[in-house]
Amino acid sequence: LHIALGEPTGRRASPDLWGIFLEDINDALDGGLNADVVQNGQFEYSPEDRPGWGPLTAWTAQGSVTVRSADPVDPATATHVRLHGERTAASITNHGYDGMTLGAGPHLLELALRRVDEAAASLTVRLTRGDREIARTSLALDAPAREWTFLQTRLELPADVEDAALALELARGTADLDVVSLRPIDPGTGRPRTFRPDLVAALAELKPSFVRFPGGCVAHGLGLENMYHWKTTLGPRHERRHLRNTWGYHQSMSIGYLEYFLLCEQLGATPMPIVPAGVCCQNLPGGPRAIPQDEMPEYIRDVLDLVEFANGGAETRWGAVRTALGHPEPFGLRYLGVGNEDQITADFRDRFHQIHAALRAEHPEITVIGTAGPNPFGTDFEDGWTFAREEDVAIVDEHGYRTPHWFHQNTRRFDTYDRSGPAVYVGEYAARTSRLRSALAEAAGMIGMERNSDVVRLASYAPLLARVGHTQWTPDLIYFTDTEVRPSASYHVQRMFSHARGEHVCGLEVTGAAPRVRGVPDARSVRLRSPGNRVRWSEIAVDGITHPDQVTAADGEEIALPGWGADACEISVQLTRIEGAQGAEIHLGGPAGTTHYTVQLGGWQNRTS
Ligand code: AHR
Repeated sequence: LHIALGEPTGRRASPDLWGIFLEDINDALDGGLNADVVQNGQFEYSPEDRPGWGPLTAWTAQGSVTVRSADPVDPATATHVRLHGERTAASITNHGYDGMTLGAGPHLLELALRRVDEAAASLTVRLTRGDREIARTSLALDAPAREWTFLQTRLELPADVEDAALALELARGTADLDVVSLRPIDPGTGRPRTFRPDLVAALAELKPSFVRFPGGCVAHGLGLENMYHWKTTLGPRHERRHLRNTWGYHQSMSIGYLEYFLLCEQLGATPMPIVPAGVCCQNLPGGPRAIPQDEMPEYIRDVLDLVEFANGGAETRWGAVRTALGHPEPFGLRYLGVGNEDQITADFRDRFHQIHAALRAEHPEITVIGTAGPNPFGTDFEDGWTFAREEDVAIVDEHGYRTPHWFHQNTRRFDTYDRSGPAVYVGEYAARTSRLRSALAEAAGMIGMERNSDVVRLASYAPLLARVGHTQWTPDLIYFTDTEVRPSASYHVQRMFSHARGEHVCGLEVTGAAPRVRGVPDARSVRLRSPGNRVRWSEIAVDGITHPDQVTAADGEEIALPGWGADACEISVQLTRIEGAQGAEIHLGGPAGTTHYTVQLGGWQNRTS
């Protein structure tokens, strides 16, 4: 087989093609990218986040400790604790996410404290591992009683430590406590870190052109009260509105919109915020709900203000807010997504239209990205595309989580896309089995995107980050623990494509024999044989996806598997041995003949005919 580079096709590769998708799923932010090692530092966890959770989740209390919400440090995050150091000391200890992991060196502890009486004169801060004390300091409490004050102290760690805990102890008097955080101090800047550096390094290594944020489903939320509103994520942590996370945990918003823009800047990537299209998640019982009409003007103002916050000069209202938050320079926003996988309902059309029209009128310089709707690749997203054409949306966001087989078979998906209509953003995709095979299939799919990048302008694998032991979605691009970053095989594919970006699309000249994968037929049917019917067949799966129509097959039964094509695929069949069975046979039939697999107990023997 000989492959040679052909003539340029005249198509240029989109310079922004490969980006990343950052959603708070799998503990990606709190417990992940967020450098703060204290979990539930604002005591805002609740059973609504997850059954069994509450204000003292991740904490243990000793002595007299009560949870209260009267006279809070801020109504947005009202819950706090009161320590009564009466006959014995009162203390609370935070255990982080899976125990705290901290590196040697200085750390900054911050908290809000209110002395209830004058007897509360000092708070002891201890970092411990089991019974061993690793670091200790104390905070003198001398602010007037009955006023919240923000306190800071440094904890110097002599060595790296894992599985540690942070204890705060009041020996005498009564004091209220809230907004606790512990972050490593960056030796370069002398300031506490915002992000975990090893995870940022893994993202930087992907050289992303853009960063999509905050989702995914997190963007439009589980109900109107759960929608992500960018303005409520700015400013001091205790003023930020916390959210029940779509994926079953809690969002402190410590990584809010300012931090997101700063991350983009650090990565050299252009921001791509996704704002709700005025409707919430389509997967709710009763369907999505829409922002009431009389609230739409204010909501649209919020969307327009986001552009001003990112790009406006210091003389503009929101540019001034950005400047006051320490960033006078604009963030160079060029893309703005409106909606995520929304059902193309009348409400959606109406709200999207209003937002889109306002953006066009006030910010024609921004490229608006619409949504193709909730279906994964494999359908034609007809409603979404028809609506996007009517609206003349610049780019449409298509999502697809499919089998590796599907990716191999659809490398030409975009060849026939209309070049005169909206362009495409493949905003979420992954081949679902989380193995090398998926990575190779994604690479094949990405070649199809790159070859068509006159129409596929942007693409981002999803999801991006996953804390091991805390995942809600599989596969993910980068797994991590407190001590390790574990990139998946798919990560290396993303990295390779991003590092070796092309400029022009050239043809390929292929001469010689067409390659064939040995031993795998052009399978169209499976026939199962177990003499004496002593093996039970169940769970026939193709490329990791269980065949929906067939759970148990009778001996000798032939099962047609529609949708298989000519390419290689992976077939798995679950066998249950019934007394005395020595083996069984699987016959895979297709146009190229039949392959017989003899299943011996404990292994496969392949006989091809
Ligand atoms: O990437 C995980 C989820 O998949 C996203 O939140 C959603 O948009 C999609 O269904």
